[in-house]
Amino acid sequence: MKINGQTKLIGFLGSTFKTSKMYAMYNTAFKALRLNYIYVPLVAQDLKKSVEGIRHLGISAVGVTIPYKIEIIPFLDELDDNAKRIGAVNVVLNKNGKLIGGNTDGEGAVMALKEKTEIKGKKVVLMGAGGAARAIAFAIKNAGGKLIILNRTVGDAKELVKTIGCQFGGLEKLSELLTTDILINSTSVGMIPNINQSLVNKKFLHKKLVVMDIVSNPKETKLLKEAKEVGCQLVFADRMLLWQGVLKFEKYTGIKPPIKIMEKSLLNSKL
Ligand code: ATR
Repeated sequence: MKINGQTKLIGFLGSTFKTSKMYAMYNTAFKALRLNYIYVPLVAQDLKKSVEGIRHLGISAVGVTIPYKIEIIPFLDELDDNAKRIGAVNVVLNKNGKLIGGNTDGEGAVMALKEKTEIKGKKVVLMGAGGAARAIAFAIKNAGGKLIILNRTVGDAKELVKTIGCQFGGLEKLSELLTTDILINSTSVGMIPNINQSLVNKKFLHKKLVVMDIVSNPKETKLLKEAKEVGCQLVFADRMLLWQGVLKFEKYTGIKPPIKIMEKSLLNSKL
């Protein structure tokens, strides 16, 4: 990869920037396609000024992650329809000084699920009502899933459902799983260091259930481990990571993403 006067800079804005596997994934893809792009960490000290920096330094685009996905919105010029609906952004494109926010998280989750199951007409229980859940909920609804949102704080699920229009409830309704096709954990429960936690009682899991967890560390959460024991199909968080990144690559470059290369790089990269 040659850096020269035409090199386009893409940055990664977020507090977990140091340990992302995305550097390897994008830079390997740029190299393979001989694209004059580079993907680097951008550390935001002051978010508003940093966003102005994107504009004034001519940075082509940024990937946005925790904790800026919502906070960044007031500093952008526009949101695409998807980001507007979700109310969160995971990518910003700089179109001649105009900063446009988008979101590929939900679609990435749907693509990961579709590797294992059809979604249309399926009963889907989504646990959580935070930023990640919001993105996934809209995408599942778009894909034709019959969605039920269950959250510890029922009020948050109720709020989310106002814009989506589906069933909701508290976690005590997890017995619904007995007649459910797809379960998605979009809460942080099970994430390191709390690896012995799961919101789901194993007795509600059954063989025909496809279980997805957006917790990526550890790769096999307690929920997924128990689901595997029961014989469920599993969808790991790194598949969502891949697909949301593949979708972003296309936004960054306008070029068809080299999926196999990105996948291999993601598998091989260590944090
Ligand atoms: P993100 O943007 O990653 O989705 P978030 O907005 O902080 O993060 O949302 C975290 C989600 O995990 C919420 O749905 C939260 O439930 P509450 O709305 O009740 O807070 C859920 N969550 C976190 N810890 C939890 C726990 N110990 N038990 C149940 N749900 C939990």
